[in-house]
Amino acid sequence: MENRKWYENAFVYQIYPRSFADSNNDGIGDLNGIISKLDYLKDLGVDAVWISPFYASPLDDCGYDISDFQAIAPEYGTMDDFDRLLHEAHKRGIRILLDLVVNHTSTQHRWFRAAVEDPTSKYHDYYFWRKLGDFKDGCGSPEGSGYGDSVWLYVPDNDEYYLHSGYETEADLNWDNPEVRDEICNMINFWLDRGVDGFRCDVIYLISKEKTLTHFGMGPHLHEYLHELYTRCFAPHDAITVAEVWGQDPETTLTMIGADREELTMSFYFDHMGLGRIGRFIKDSYDRDDFISILARWQDGINGKANNTLVLENHDQSRIVSRFGNEGKYRAQSATMLAAMTFLMQGTAFIYQGQELGLVNPVFHSLDDIKDVETLDYIKDMRQRGEMTDQEILEHVKFGTRDVARVPMPWSSGKNFGFSDADPWINGDAPYSETNVETESADPDSVLNFFKKMIALKKKNDVLSYGAFKLISKENGFFRYERTYDGKTVTVIGNFSEDVKKIDLSDLEGSSVLLSNYVDFSASPNTALRPYEVAVLG
Ligand code: NOJ
Ligand code: CA
Repeated sequence: MENRKWYENAFVYQIYPRSFADSNNDGIGDLNGIISKLDYLKDLGVDAVWISPFYASPLDDCGYDISDFQAIAPEYGTMDDFDRLLHEAHKRGIRILLDLVVNHTSTQHRWFRAAVEDPTSKYHDYYFWRKLGDFKDGCGSPEGSGYGDSVWLYVPDNDEYYLHSGYETEADLNWDNPEVRDEICNMINFWLDRGVDGFRCDVIYLISKEKTLTHFGMGPHLHEYLHELYTRCFAPHDAITVAEVWGQDPETTLTMIGADREELTMSFYFDHMGLGRIGRFIKDSYDRDDFISILARWQDGINGKANNTLVLENHDQSRIVSRFGNEGKYRAQSATMLAAMTFLMQGTAFIYQGQELGLVNPVFHSLDDIKDVETLDYIKDMRQRGEMTDQEILEHVKFGTRDVARVPMPWSSGKNFGFSDADPWINGDAPYSETNVETESADPDSVLNFFKKMIALKKKNDVLSYGAFKLISKENGFFRYERTYDGKTVTVIGNFSEDVKKIDLSDLEGSSVLLSNYVDFSASPNTALRPYEVAVLG
């Protein structure tokens, strides 16, 4: 038996704390709420939980704008609550990953405030600054440097501009300053010493920046800085790390996660989630075969060289059923097919809260209900351009806003779906009266019970856990792939479409059906695969 790592076949469950469970009925999810649901997560069968930020923050970007890395926002609880959460999770064999957001801080962070109050203080050099005269040819401009609006914001009192590669109140940290790296390492070790098992690393590929500060990502010192974090923090604590990275291919990704690199453990990719849209807010057509091709490309590119990841949803994305399945007639079938197709490949699977229920997007009826800063920026921009009515903007927003993933988790069909007695902090129209934990737990054929079976199957089956991946065929939504290990093969076949597909499965006649999302699947010379049918045979 090879020396296997715990995460290779693991299921990680992402919690968006503000919307998971509210223990004190103020309409905001909190750490004690998470503790109260650990038995549910244990029963689901997940190995680890990744919790999105709950640190002190002015909440412009829902917590990704951190004002104190080592404090907990009061509405989420206290450090004692956190320690108890860690203890209770570990008691149940569930590991805890935190969100490491170190490309930027909130402009409310004491470092940034000190930098503004006294530009001669050492904190000034924790960030990137420019005077008007510094914007020369090829060095960006105060009006715009290629990321929508300008990435430089003027601070009138100091007559200079600071860099924010993302939102305005998220100032980029200057990682070239060794003191910044010391601060970050100490902070990471603070959490690791408490017993945290690892981190999801927010836009980590941006931390090193090329000199002109005009384009960002995979900068010149990235590998050096990641290796420093690895040796000073991650390796001594045996912690795992998952990179959030955009727009890379498997080859460049391997330069960060390759086993010999000593940098990060694994990396997300989101190419498949970008299908069928232009930017974030405009819907487009796509080819379902491209979806499976992208997954296969990452399997072929990463497997055997590093640990892969499998992901369909997170707090920045639409519910997968609403984007790529059928919200109405085939909700359960499309939710389960997409999950089995993706999560039974090789790699660590990431489930976003509520995905295991097959949730669809809530509807936002008014632009006034939007909380997501990216969407608010978009609305502002579109209104300024004056080309669309608010009603037209709303249609784009319904499709693209990150808020669709951020309404409360439905625990029951009761008031506010059992999330809280008080009105939740966000106001979306969510049709979850039949797709909540209570109802789905009681229904043996629910998406939730399919997820439980799927998780248990992958974890007990060495072929699905560790086997090599091979795409056998794909055509008009039909796909077939194999996993092989130790002379054994498991086949996954599915129909990523709403047509019935006749298919010759004579070679699989007699194999056992390990999992399927229609009760009466059978392999024969003329199997007819129904809409979004999926079956696992071995
Ligand atoms: C990626 C996070 O997932 C997103 O929610 C956040 O807005 C940005 N990084 C900035 O931290
Ligand atoms: Ca609360």
